[in-house]
Amino acid sequence: MASSQLELGFLFFFFLIPNLRNSANAFTPADNYLIDCGSLSSTTIGARVFVADDGRAWTLNTPTDIVANISSPSSVASLASSSLYLNARVFTAPSSYTFPIKQQGRHFIRLYFFPFDNQQWKLTAAQFSVSTQDSMLLENFRPRADSATAFKEFSTNIGHDSLILSFLPGTNSTAFVSALEVVSVPDNLILNTAQIVNTKAAYQGLSAQQLETVYRLNMGGPLIFPDNDTLARTWAQDGAFLVVSSLAQNVSYTGPINYAAGNSPEIAPQFVYATATELVNENVTVNARFNVTWMFKVESGFNFLVRMHFCDIVSQALNNLYFSSYINTWAAASVVDLSSLSSNALHTALFLDYVVQVPPGSNNLSVSIGPSNFNNGPADGILNGLEIMKISNSSSGFVVDSGSKSHIGVILGAVFGVLAVLIVAVVVFCLFRRRKKAKKQHSKAWIPFSINGGTSQSLASRGSNLTTATSGQNGNLGYRFSFIVLQEATNSFDENWVIGVGGFGKVYKGALRDETKVAVKRGNPKSQQGLNEFRTEIELLSRLRHRHLVSLIGYCDERNEMILVYEYMEEGTLKSHLYGSDLPNLNWVQRLEICIGSARGLHYLHTGSAKAIIHRDVKSANILLDENLMAKVADFGLSKTGPELDQTHVSTAVKGSFGYLDPEYFRRQQLTEKSDVYSFGVVLLEVLCARPVIDPTLPREMVNLAEWGMKWQKRGELDQIIDARIAGSIKPDSLRKFAETVEKCLADFGVERPTMGDVLWNLEYALQLQEAESPDSEVNSINRITELASRVQNMNNLATIPDAGAATASLNDLSDVSMSRVFSQLIKSEGR
Ligand SMILES: *[C@@H]1O[C@H](CO)[C@@H](O)[C@H](O)[C@H]1NC(C)=O
Ligand SMILES: *[C@@H]1O[C@H](CO)[C@@H](O)[C@H](O)[C@H]1NC(C)=O
Ligand SMILES: *[C@@H]1O[C@H](CO)[C@@H](O)[C@H](O)[C@H]1NC(C)=O
Ligand SMILES: *[C@@H]1O[C@H](CO)[C@@H](O)[C@H](O)[C@H]1NC(C)=O
Ligand SMILES: *[C@@H]1O[C@H](CO)[C@@H](O)[C@H](O)[C@H]1NC(C)=O
Ligand SMILES: *[C@@H]1O[C@H](CO)[C@@H](O)[C@H](O)[C@H]1NC(C)=O
Ligand SMILES: *[C@@H]1O[C@H](CO)[C@@H](O)[C@H](O)[C@H]1NC(C)=O
Ligand SMILES: *[C@@H]1O[C@H](CO)[C@@H](O)[C@H](O)[C@H]1NC(C)=O
Repeated sequence: MASSQLELGFLFFFFLIPNLRNSANAFTPADNYLIDCGSLSSTTIGARVFVADDGRAWTLNTPTDIVANISSPSSVASLASSSLYLNARVFTAPSSYTFPIKQQGRHFIRLYFFPFDNQQWKLTAAQFSVSTQDSMLLENFRPRADSATAFKEFSTNIGHDSLILSFLPGTNSTAFVSALEVVSVPDNLILNTAQIVNTKAAYQGLSAQQLETVYRLNMGGPLIFPDNDTLARTWAQDGAFLVVSSLAQNVSYTGPINYAAGNSPEIAPQFVYATATELVNENVTVNARFNVTWMFKVESGFNFLVRMHFCDIVSQALNNLYFSSYINTWAAASVVDLSSLSSNALHTALFLDYVVQVPPGSNNLSVSIGPSNFNNGPADGILNGLEIMKISNSSSGFVVDSGSKSHIGVILGAVFGVLAVLIVAVVVFCLFRRRKKAKKQHSKAWIPFSINGGTSQSLASRGSNLTTATSGQNGNLGYRFSFIVLQEATNSFDENWVIGVGGFGKVYKGALRDETKVAVKRGNPKSQQGLNEFRTEIELLSRLRHRHLVSLIGYCDERNEMILVYEYMEEGTLKSHLYGSDLPNLNWVQRLEICIGSARGLHYLHTGSAKAIIHRDVKSANILLDENLMAKVADFGLSKTGPELDQTHVSTAVKGSFGYLDPEYFRRQQLTEKSDVYSFGVVLLEVLCARPVIDPTLPREMVNLAEWGMKWQKRGELDQIIDARIAGSIKPDSLRKFAETVEKCLADFGVERPTMGDVLWNLEYALQLQEAESPDSEVNSINRITELASRVQNMNNLATIPDAGAATASLNDLSDVSMSRVFSQLIKSEGR
């Protein structure tokens, strides 16, 4: 492994060190991304080149491609690294950079911000969050106008093949970044253990922690610029932090500095060790005993890693210098004996690590050195360098990962009428419906399969057709396809048969030997995340059967493949029927029926099993339509099982799609069913307005459909922006009910949003209002609604499970009635 090689390297270094001192071999980072964000050309800062923001070696996923230029470059001229601040990359919607990581392990992530205002953007008012896929870096961060530049450095252990750095604009705000760095550092830069000064116990597990550099100081010497540091760090001066500066003096040394065992210039450059702040010794003879103290403002309630750098550059001989160190008045070391720490060598660089717990309510962190009581020697003490790093508490970050994919999706959607990940065979559906009654036993359940294990469970499908797949134990049925069968079904995964591309892989149209049409989703075998989603999807779909959820027909895990086989949905995605294609227009009743069907599917997900299932990626591209335009919810790859009964949310990395993401989920990374309700609210708006949820080609205030729609709804004028093709035919009452429902779904806080069951009820109501024969049949309509309400209430969980009883039957009847009415109105020209 790379890290053990690294350690060996240091060991080797150690043996040679006494003579070699500073090896000229500079550290070469395996990953070294330096980007001048928003710039068209490279920018050179000292010896380092920040390349143009062209996404050549990384990918930028953003629904908008916005660059802001500073209007008066002279205003930054005096700042260090000023040329990095002339442009900024601006994000008006959740966006992310994805960096391929060559060498996993510790990296610096450095972010540069200079908030400026120009005619178009007011970056001084920006407020946003920045996160990796694992942890939050900055939450609701405001780079303020009065603090010229903001520079943030994080040190984080990356355990993936890529780093996803996501930016999330706050409400009514934008996010931006002026420059950024993602750079490898040696793994042993951060050791695993340190002493907790408050308790004297050991703090374990530092190497896995994410740290944020809060202070990095060169004591008693000049400011050190990145060019003089092999890891491009900046070391500030300490004078401003001294509580009583008259007690301290500068010392410096011009000879060579040695590095102690395991130490190297990567720990800190020799410039840091060559200077120190020392206790003034003018009064030593009069036996004045005092501490030199530095005081720092820090965020309360966090643990901090405090690293003290020492190098005895003041003694003429060994064993003369003994002192004490304190952090927040806790003794860190009652005797710092540099001679023995350095194995009896002067001018040797070393460091000591401590963790201090700063209690809530306190913002002070102080570091002191003072005389020790050891052997009553002269009162003296030094400190050469100091780093204070906040240990991140954040356990989860968010991921914005569907940007570039959604571009592909739009194109595909336009061409094929499908971005969807899944599609349905009518025949199969009808067959299932028919057989349900006759052969309940056989259509009943999809057992949870063991994915990688159990060839013993392998179901003989090789060379056999679908319906002869054999029965497993306990009378359950599962379909495990052989690879060859699927190869044949998809014409050897013919690229021309691709009907969709998703995060998981490609989706192919296919036909089994019995001519059943299927959608075959083939995962990218390299992606571990994909494997998890594969499992999730099989496990979930195995348990779930509902007429408004796309059915899984089977899977294939031969040859490390991850392939899912679904029913084929003839009419593709809801999205493709709304815009971006030349499919026939859907009328309002059809649209309502589709919304109602999807709401049923989601309601079943939320309530149909003991633990709620949260879809997490509700969008119009995941709602598929069969040949009768019946809606089915698809793509459970991101689904999570909901909270246990004693919790109210699932805490998790944020996943999902631009424009549909619940802002509260982003803020708190807490997942509830209400996140799906929010996304569904966006879908409802999309259905009403027939435009993309994020359209970067529109003026700023119109880009995000949810924001734009709510603006009009709050004024009571939502009718102004609805799809012109249906505007004339929507009855005002129906629209009002629908709009109210949308507004409730899009409430800022989950608790204010209705449940999916309520949404369903309201949509049914909107449909009834649309279909009410005449405006004066109000009473009649109310009666029908009351009747409807009680039926919806009864429906709940089991409604459409094949075995459900009488209540189900009546409900099915109800929905069949409305659906069949839709069908009869359909002009049968939908086939493609
Ligand atoms: C920013 O400046 C570059 C040239 O430096 C120019 O090409 C680009 O159009 C400018 N962008 C804006 C939004 O003004
Ligand atoms: C966002 O802006 C709208 C008007 O543009 C305002 O009504 C609303 O209060 C703002 N929300 C926040 C959180 O600032
Ligand atoms: C110590 O040195 C720094 C820079 O070399 C200087 O700015 C500071 O004033 C000096 N302090 C004292 C007490 O001489
Ligand atoms: C940094 O490097 C430059 C040139 O390499 C040198 O002149 C300067 O003295 C160095 N800075 C410090 C703090 O030593
Ligand atoms: C040194 O001691 C003398 C006498 O006690 C005192 O006047 C002077 O202020 C002291 N100097 C410092 C730097 O503390
Ligand atoms: C950070 O974590 C510690 C220990 O888990 C906890 O005591 C502390 O309250 C947390 N601080 C913040 C600001 O969340
Ligand atoms: C230095 O500070 C520590 C912690 O506040 C204190 O215990 C100690 O007595 C101080 N030493 C002197 C000489 O003032
Ligand atoms: C923090 O330090 C300041 C002075 O630097 C002091 O006034 C304040 O009382 C300290 N607060 C605590 C909680 O120790």
